[in-house]
Amino acid sequence: MSKDIAFEMAVSSVRYGIGVTREVGMDLAELGARLVLVLTDPTVCALAPVQTVLESLERSGVPFALYDRVRVEPSDESFLDAIAFARARPFDAFVAVGGGSTIDTAKAVNLYTTCPPADFLDYVNPPIGKGLPVPGPLKPLMAIPTTAGTGSETTGVTIFDLKKMRAKTGIANRRLKPTLGYLDPDNTRTMPPQVAASTGLDILSHAIESFTAMPFTDRPLPERPALRPAYQGSNPISDIWSMQALRMVAKFLVRAVDDASDDEARANMLLASSYAGVGFGNAGVHLPHGMSYPVSGNVKSYRAPGYVTDHPLVPHGISVILNAPAVFRFTASANPGRHLQAAEALGADVTGARAEDAGKILADRSYRLGRPGRMSSPRCSKMRWSAGSLLRGHSYLSPLETLKN
Ligand SMILES: NC(=O)c1ccc[n+]([C@@H]2O[C@H](COP(=O)([O-])OP(=O)(O)OC[C@H]3O[C@@H](n4cnc5c(N)ncnc54)[C@H](O)[C@@H]3O)[C@@H](O)[C@H]2O)c1
Ligand SMILES: [Fe+2]
Repeated sequence: MSKDIAFEMAVSSVRYGIGVTREVGMDLAELGARLVLVLTDPTVCALAPVQTVLESLERSGVPFALYDRVRVEPSDESFLDAIAFARARPFDAFVAVGGGSTIDTAKAVNLYTTCPPADFLDYVNPPIGKGLPVPGPLKPLMAIPTTAGTGSETTGVTIFDLKKMRAKTGIANRRLKPTLGYLDPDNTRTMPPQVAASTGLDILSHAIESFTAMPFTDRPLPERPALRPAYQGSNPISDIWSMQALRMVAKFLVRAVDDASDDEARANMLLASSYAGVGFGNAGVHLPHGMSYPVSGNVKSYRAPGYVTDHPLVPHGISVILNAPAVFRFTASANPGRHLQAAEALGADVTGARAEDAGKILADRSYRLGRPGRMSSPRCSKMRWSAGSLLRGHSYLSPLETLKN
């Protein structure tokens, strides 16, 4: 089998700055939008970012409707509810204001209303769905993240829980990428510390996974360029974004969780989220994300502290980071040098480190960030809840106690 000779960097447009949320109305007016659907979840709906968006649309004379029923950790059912709402009127643009759950729901709404498939699973990733290509361009989608984690404002991916299989899956296609991501550090100020921690750990894993993913040159050569997947494997351009995201997470994650008024830390975590999104959006993620799906798909009763929802869930970032250290110990032998480079970016001293210790060094480093109660900072008490409190007393997670070693 011939191996691939190329990778392609799909661009993502973002605008960064305090207050950029106020500009969305002017942007949509300039695009000629006649009826806009604003999507959000019930918690974020009551917060300032949504108010700012609605005022901005009003000021620019852009008619809109509000859908505020996005499900935190969306499912096929919640997607279908939002799609049905959107079908009822001729919306020609979308604004997502919220975390990854909201941005992903807006991507699905855009796809399923603009290019309706014959069957819901047609676009869904194989083997669950057919993975059919998206036949044409979608409508404008403005993504305004209120968490610093998923980087969904930069990616062509939407993730959901397929209820009947109790498994998470998704749709990956470059056409799903939002038209513009608005990175406004004011919008993440109200995140509860647990949400800041979970979403920050998601950035950490996106960055390490994309940096340690199989290189693009190990993938099979596609028959034609259009068949080259969005997730192409590690590549020299994604590497730059992923490594910089790691340095920023190492420096700012604990500060951002510990003190929501730390503007510098919050702003850098929002940037890091997009940096990692550009990295993994082109390189892909691997086992920690793959293994997170059964964790989150099988939750029965767990209520996550800090998450205001009407249903049980394991936050995405936690479901990912639980398995990550064990994975890095396992994957390190494939490329010890990369695992050491990632550990170094996270602040580990790797001088004279042996190749056979690379997995343990990176696992220890990422585990420390996942369990910052163990870190030297006396200020990170709010994060002691993290993986430790999830691990204790929840039988479906008990095998993951091994993380402690
Ligand atoms: N598309 C992608 O590229 C991608 C990447 C990673 C994860 N995901 C998906 O994104 C989802 C997770 O998204 P998330 O981690 O951003 O969180 P989220 O959207 O699920 O929100 C988490 C919680 O935080 C609340 N919240 C959000 N912003 C807030 C704010 N500013 N103040 C107060 N509360 C706030 C929400 O109401 C919710 O209760 C998962 O479904 C995951 O699979 C998608
Ligand atoms: Fe993620």
